[in-house]
Amino acid sequence: MSEETEAKAEAEYFCKDFEWETLKQEIENNPSCQYHLLPFTSPPSPSQQEAVQESEDSKAWQRFHLCHSSGKFFKERRYLLKEYPELVSCKEFSKVLEIGCGNGSSVIPILRGNKDIIVYACDCSSETLERAKEIVHSTNIFIVQNRFHPFFCDFAFTGFPKWLVCDSCKEIFSLKQQQCSAEGGVADKSGLYLSRECGCCIGGVDFVTLIFTLSAVPLKRMPTAIMECFSVLKPGGLLLFRDYGLYDMTMLRFEPEKRVGFREYMRSDGTRSYFFCLDTVRDLFVGVGFVELELEYCCVKSENRRKGKSMQRRDDDEEEEEEKAILVVKEEAFDPN
Ligand SMILES: C[S@@+](CC[C@H](N)C(=O)[O-])C[C@H]1O[C@@H](n2cnc3c(N)ncnc32)[C@H](O)[C@@H]1O
Repeated sequence: MSEETEAKAEAEYFCKDFEWETLKQEIENNPSCQYHLLPFTSPPSPSQQEAVQESEDSKAWQRFHLCHSSGKFFKERRYLLKEYPELVSCKEFSKVLEIGCGNGSSVIPILRGNKDIIVYACDCSSETLERAKEIVHSTNIFIVQNRFHPFFCDFAFTGFPKWLVCDSCKEIFSLKQQQCSAEGGVADKSGLYLSRECGCCIGGVDFVTLIFTLSAVPLKRMPTAIMECFSVLKPGGLLLFRDYGLYDMTMLRFEPEKRVGFREYMRSDGTRSYFFCLDTVRDLFVGVGFVELELEYCCVKSENRRKGKSMQRRDDDEEEEEEKAILVVKEEAFDPN
């Protein structure tokens, strides 16, 4: 692809191709979509069974990556830096934690876009971490070996390792937060509090990226998982979130028997997907202490360029064209105003 065509493709990706409210009306008035709207009552399960299920979730992703180890699923998210320019304009040696990094689709544009940024990237699959390492190291990104740190972690189940942020730093973060709230919510972005770092951890991160990962976590586990993200962010840090929006085509393709909760589905391979509306995202993130900076649906209509077709989406269309209703969120640990 020439630079010009690539730039055009990126720009196309950014368009607000349709109004989410129009899509909502269309879906909610469509009789064949009604099962997606029905309340869901799950049978009560003993807590032991829930614990087994939780580890089953990451095992399903491990199997998924083993089956797709060719790297075919790797697609660099070229739009990421346009959506989140803070990843380019941030201070030198800022630290990013990309959660559920997969093959590195988001890691690569971040490393490429800022030669000083340091990326810590975790996933619950060792297979995909190996693939991500290979892919990242095969690029000619500026001294990438010192700036990319992949590690295994199931953040929803076990939380993050202490070398990312130790208990003593967490305590400092929490004190800083209380102080900040008492002073009227002004975030200190100077990083001066880091002079009290104990040396046993990296002192937390400036950014957390959650790009199409939270939807893979069971809804009931999400508050704990988001709290984990909050706890590793330095005061004034940003959480950048993008994920499946309610009524995304991916959701509408799920058959009734794939429902495992309200707006929650499980694929045949055991991986799951939740579809977010703005209120749910707000409640989840604000509920653990984040302050909302931006929250909106990103509505993109993508074309099947391979076949050179642009078709209007209809329910009986095959997967030629995809409409995406994706949420974009920027959340900060403290109110910067
Ligand atoms: C759809 S992929 C997104 C990959 C990447 N963030 C991107 O921008 O393309 C979701 C990834 O999250 C990982 N994942 C799912 N649940 C996880 C968990 N509890 N902890 C860590 N990683 C998880 C999966 O293995 C998978 O690689």
